[in-house]
Amino acid sequence: MLTFNSPEKLQKWALARRAEGKRIGLVPTMGYLHEGHLSLIRKARKHADLVVVSVFVNPIQFGPNEDYAKYPRDEKADLAKCEAEGAAAVFLPTPATMYASDASTRIRETVLADRLCGLRRPGHFEGVCTVVAKLFNLAQPTVAVFGQKDFQQAAVIKRMVRDLNFPVKILVAPIVREKDGLAKSSRNTYLSTEERRNALGLSRALALAKQLVAKGETSAKRIGAKMRSELERNGLVVDYVELLDAATLDPVAKVVKGNVALIAAFDGKTRLIDNTLL
Ligand code: PAF
Repeated sequence: MLTFNSPEKLQKWALARRAEGKRIGLVPTMGYLHEGHLSLIRKARKHADLVVVSVFVNPIQFGPNEDYAKYPRDEKADLAKCEAEGAAAVFLPTPATMYASDASTRIRETVLADRLCGLRRPGHFEGVCTVVAKLFNLAQPTVAVFGQKDFQQAAVIKRMVRDLNFPVKILVAPIVREKDGLAKSSRNTYLSTEERRNALGLSRALALAKQLVAKGETSAKRIGAKMRSELERNGLVVDYVELLDAATLDPVAKVVKGNVALIAAFDGKTRLIDNTLL
């Protein structure tokens, strides 16, 4: 497995592989890899000849009071996991090599990014789109794989790819959960024992939404209210509960098959997100 720290060297390598006719699959990550990330690598391997995993805690997608400094990092373990999953290369740049000190170009998606997490985290999706566009230019992927856990992120990136004609197919891999239902996330490491117990409120609220829909409930208002109660019953502070059209992320009044239920909630100081297709 190759490792690259230099953006230029990765790009040179990727262009040479593409010239040989190889399909490259990109899995962009912020590292501290767990089973969810590994499922993305496996999916990428099915659709590409060579898989590149990027491991980069992207400073420009964090707000000033967010967890950039304490975001968990474990480069050695990440490299071992990528190697075990058959990645061809891992890209581990530094902020200084990714962003010139006078970098002044950003990519902003202006509709899907300005709601949900985008409202609570101003500039977040601009940081995500900018780094993902750079990663596309560097790794030259034919496919890139993102997790459904970050549902809004995947929607924003698909829109960016469509709008800017990136020659990349975006694949979305299902959420990987712990046995008890908690969606895997690097941020779960922040949770105390009690918070870890309370965190189950998210998957419980989503399961409740599914049950209600299965029983014939269609009112987004009623489903949303019950989901909120379930989150609060588990000691969580609701940031948002939304029932939306999965493609446009527009709110729905009447829930139909294929809509998505999305949650963001604070578990102590940690903000957790989760979602399910209904
Ligand atoms: O989902 C993430 O881990 C990040 O937002 C991403 C896509 C790697 C961009 O930094």
